[in-house]
Amino acid sequence: MTTTPNPQPGLMDIALYQGGASTLDGVENPLKLSSNENPFGASPLATSAVTQAALGLHRYPSTDHATLRGTIAEIHGLDANRIVCGVGSDEILTLLAMAFAGQGDEVLFTEHGFSMYRIFALAAGATPVVAPETDRCVDVDKVIAAITPQTRLIYIANPANPTGTALDIGDLTRLADAVPASCLLVLDGAYAEFVEGYDGGAALVTARDNVVMTRTFSKLYGLGGLRVGWGYASQHVIDVLNRIRGPFNMSSVALAGADAAMRDRDFVATCLHENAQQRTRLIGGLRQLGLACDDSQANFVLARFEDEQAALAADAHLKAAGILVRLVKGYGFPEALRITVGRAEDVTRVLDALATLRGAT
Ligand SMILES: Cc1ncc(COP(=O)(O)O)c(C=O)c1O
Repeated sequence: MTTTPNPQPGLMDIALYQGGASTLDGVENPLKLSSNENPFGASPLATSAVTQAALGLHRYPSTDHATLRGTIAEIHGLDANRIVCGVGSDEILTLLAMAFAGQGDEVLFTEHGFSMYRIFALAAGATPVVAPETDRCVDVDKVIAAITPQTRLIYIANPANPTGTALDIGDLTRLADAVPASCLLVLDGAYAEFVEGYDGGAALVTARDNVVMTRTFSKLYGLGGLRVGWGYASQHVIDVLNRIRGPFNMSSVALAGADAAMRDRDFVATCLHENAQQRTRLIGGLRQLGLACDDSQANFVLARFEDEQAALAADAHLKAAGILVRLVKGYGFPEALRITVGRAEDVTRVLDALATLRGAT
């Protein structure tokens, strides 16, 4: 006889999510380039809004997030009624699976896709299905070929993590055109801002009822610790998500901080400019050291070594130099390290450390 309650089928198949390392034995302030955070931190305006909001901690927060939705709508030129806010974009992504997929349904994502997609699918009781990629890029034809009558949800991060590669709007449109009306195409735009001229798929969402865009304050806005994300979708999808999310899912502090962060356009412009400059430097420097890497469109670079042993040696060497990057074996890249683009001095430190290791100095 069972003595403990049984979880729903599939839940015990979930492997715990491994976050980027944040501590290093014996090093007080390691250079953390393992979680694609903003190396400049958050906007000072966001920090002071959070401090101010802390004076009202005894009050419940807004349930409809109207102020933050209004700011997002204004900055992005969207309809505020079609926006929902969540505890990181993770919450929106998981609610979508909970709401639209279940037992017997398939949730589709790609070979090197963000590792949470499998967890979201299994947590909803659905079956994860993986489409192959081509040369570390999402392959629209292979995604389309993997769609079956059971597919209810497709997660595509654009740009993708951990490759940093991105589909252009032509390919995204071709994919959206091929997705059946009974299936949701979720465009995960955690890194969308880093692609110049890309709207994260917003225009596709506006034009179609079955495309959803998710965005986050954790990357460009430097608010990973505050946990704020949002989704833009059809009125129908928003309506569903609002029924199942917690009424007070967003804290008053989080709402205030995110609002101020989004309004600080000067800070955003500076961070984007710096990221583009340092990303070019990092990619160029890595290639000069004989390391292959794709033209990342995000705030990180995937550096490929000769083999797993070389990647592990480089990781250990960077750690010895006080630098934390991300091992990505779990994403199917045992031979690679994902390195967040840092400030100019951070990039110099990474390149100098790798140059020493590879005997280039
Ligand atoms: C592709 C992708 N999507 C979603 C997320 C979730 O971010 P958050 O929940 O902090 O918004 C991440 C975080 O690393 C990510 O890389």
